[in-house]
Amino acid sequence: MAESTGDFDRIVDRRAVPGEKWSRFEGRDVIPMWVADMDFAAPEVVIDAIRARLDHGVLGYTDAWPSLDGAIVDAMDRDYGWRVEPRWLVWLPGMVSAFNVACRAIGDDGDGVFTATPIYPPFLGAPANNRRQLQQAALRQRADQRWTWDWDATEAAMDDSTRLFMLCNPHNPVGRVFERHELERIAGICERRDLVICSDEIHCGLVLDEGRRHLPIAAIDESIAARTITLMAPSKTWNIPSLYCAFAIIPDDGLRRLFRRAMRGIVPHANLLGLIATEAAYRHGEEWRRRLVAYLRANRSLVGESLADLPEIRTTLPEATYLAWLDCRPFAQVHGITDLAAHFEAHGVGLSDGRSFGAPGFMRLNFGCPRPLLEQGLTRIRDALR
Ligand SMILES: Cc1ncc(COP(=O)(O)O)c(C=O)c1O
Repeated sequence: MAESTGDFDRIVDRRAVPGEKWSRFEGRDVIPMWVADMDFAAPEVVIDAIRARLDHGVLGYTDAWPSLDGAIVDAMDRDYGWRVEPRWLVWLPGMVSAFNVACRAIGDDGDGVFTATPIYPPFLGAPANNRRQLQQAALRQRADQRWTWDWDATEAAMDDSTRLFMLCNPHNPVGRVFERHELERIAGICERRDLVICSDEIHCGLVLDEGRRHLPIAAIDESIAARTITLMAPSKTWNIPSLYCAFAIIPDDGLRRLFRRAMRGIVPHANLLGLIATEAAYRHGEEWRRRLVAYLRANRSLVGESLADLPEIRTTLPEATYLAWLDCRPFAQVHGITDLAAHFEAHGVGLSDGRSFGAPGFMRLNFGCPRPLLEQGLTRIRDALR
């Protein structure tokens, strides 16, 4: 059997199978560095668990089971010192459907849902999908390049109709792992305004900075937990996004009832193989995850070194995630480029366009790939910016 566990330098031919990331540029010499999945095989412990379940042969409807809930309860305690009860868990087929359900569950037609931009694009569409009104404020970049909150703009974007605060932590695309004092300030705003918090923490297993730790906002204290829907999934960390499996942690019984009611009839069960993979990943995937994080940390350094001397872009290296956020506005302005994505594709590299994140002039670079591929992609990016 091919060794895939932690063999991060190995290039797996993704063109051999259908897949969004690589199919987009089929027939063209473009290295895909856009959608947030990695070009690594999933951990062998996860593949083995799926294989063992398939060997049983019967794939009937299946709800979550006690040892699966137990794997999450144990992982929350192990990783964050957060004591979670099994009954707080709600299993879902994905994060995007989960935060759409949150919008639908909280408030009434026309009520406000706040989010800070730039942001993972489905955040921007979720309120309108559910007849809520999007209220947004931009994060700001400090002189040292670190992105942080603009508290005045955040409060100014809200009004009496605001019911929900949609948080992304660690943040896609700016890569921040928010500090306790920032999360406490958000929690304070939400308590004062009586808002529910929906916290997308899908990237929490991918903290790259040594000495930095992810803190679930709900783990601050019980009163914050009581107004919070925490969303997590194994999909980014263990690179299994197409297995469609995520979970919400909702400690408050009333809030959990509202959430479940909003799911009824429209959100299917999580995929059985996703549930199997999730238990294996949280129980046995820690060693692989640590090696992945070390590999991604080195990739991040390579991105930093490679793009540092280019005067017409400014690169934000993430504290977590495998996504770098490139401010290409000076470059676009000097050279009169209106379609940056097309420009990079013409130079053989496919990046995500910041426009869909609410940030025209920015591009997002996915460095979750074997280093030889990353080196090639970075050379092409440098050529494109020459
Ligand atoms: C912040 C964030 N939330 C959610 C998702 C997608 O989650 P799912 O595929 O489970 O809907 C992504 C994928 O890139 C993401 O970055």
